[in-house]
Amino acid sequence: MLDVSKIRQQFPILHQEVNGYPLVYLDNGATTHKPKVVIDAIQQYYEKQNSNIHRGVHYLSQLATDEYEASRETVRKHFNADHLHEIIFTKGNTEAINLVANGFRTLLTSTDEVLVSAIEHHSNIVPWQMACESSGASLKVIPMNDKGELDMKAYESLLSNNTKVVAVNHISNALGTINPVKEIIQLAHQVGAAVLVDGAQSGPHSHIDVKDLDADFYCISGHKIYGPTGIGALYGKEEWLNKLPPYQGGGEMIATVSFKETTYATLPHKFEAGTPNIAGGIALKTAIDWLNDIGLDNVMAYENELLEYATQELAKIEGMRFIGEASNKAAVISFLVGDIHPYDMGMILDKLGIAVRTGHHCAQPVMDEFCIPGTIRASFAVYNTKEEVDRLVEGVKKAQQMLS
Ligand code: ALA
Repeated sequence: MLDVSKIRQQFPILHQEVNGYPLVYLDNGATTHKPKVVIDAIQQYYEKQNSNIHRGVHYLSQLATDEYEASRETVRKHFNADHLHEIIFTKGNTEAINLVANGFRTLLTSTDEVLVSAIEHHSNIVPWQMACESSGASLKVIPMNDKGELDMKAYESLLSNNTKVVAVNHISNALGTINPVKEIIQLAHQVGAAVLVDGAQSGPHSHIDVKDLDADFYCISGHKIYGPTGIGALYGKEEWLNKLPPYQGGGEMIATVSFKETTYATLPHKFEAGTPNIAGGIALKTAIDWLNDIGLDNVMAYENELLEYATQELAKIEGMRFIGEASNKAAVISFLVGDIHPYDMGMILDKLGIAVRTGHHCAQPVMDEFCIPGTIRASFAVYNTKEEVDRLVEGVKKAQQMLS
């Protein structure tokens, strides 16, 4: 099992005081902290390897290229994808989804339909709204029940031969719901629709197997899996990536350029215009290796313990209302206490050194569905402890006393 105190030692940022209290960081859904090896990988790149990739014959350029491409191979293995050229580096999940949705603008027609779920992050709604707006296609929403689970019966009845894309998250950032993505994909494939899975929240908490899922697109953000910001990865099935037009034009994504005609590079470079986040790409490999060394099964088991303990202890607080009570849930707890505004609770918790996220979590339709302005969200990572859960519970009680 995990030695959490040893894991915590690897995160320099955790060892500080905030407002006179030892920091309790429970905003991992927004971004995770970085272990020292990831910070070192970034420093090492700029100190010893910095050079532009895929361009130079000189030593440093080759070295940086090899390191960057080694990271692509690590991501491929992490996704269990068949081909290296099915892995596209992106700035993060938002860019990955925009890349795919933008491509579909040219494939969708006015009789087509795109399905998104009621529990999506804005980044898996707005790009599809934009694609529908410019193609004339319609956007339909897979509803949820009051526990924050998708209504699979309603989903089945929404599917038709007009459905061209289904876009869902693997784990909801706002509610923690783990969606039955394999079943969602199977059903979508029966009507010939492509499925994009937003793996922003699943990346750090669960295994990803694009082959087993038969996902057409799957994306992750580096900064949510203990890696740097500004780097992410998109898996796309070769046949789909070949059908989509390039996302951005520029260097690297071309085969030949003339004023008469430009031809595009082969995969994956067709989707990687310009100088990428090289340091981020290299450090993403370090982050994935680090996570795999700990073992995702160990991480999942430990985070589940934290989830159960935190849910049980928070439930003892008078006026506690959990938002999102799916039976299959990741270590994310959204809640409200009495009629206290989430922002007020968040401010007081911060004064006590406890970092949580408050608000709509970039999922306004979820909040509208529950008729609330937002929630207080505690989201856990492998370095959190039961003692920190106790601090959260005490903090919520103190805030309640002060605000009532
Ligand atoms: N998507 C991130 C979150 O859930 C920023 O907080």
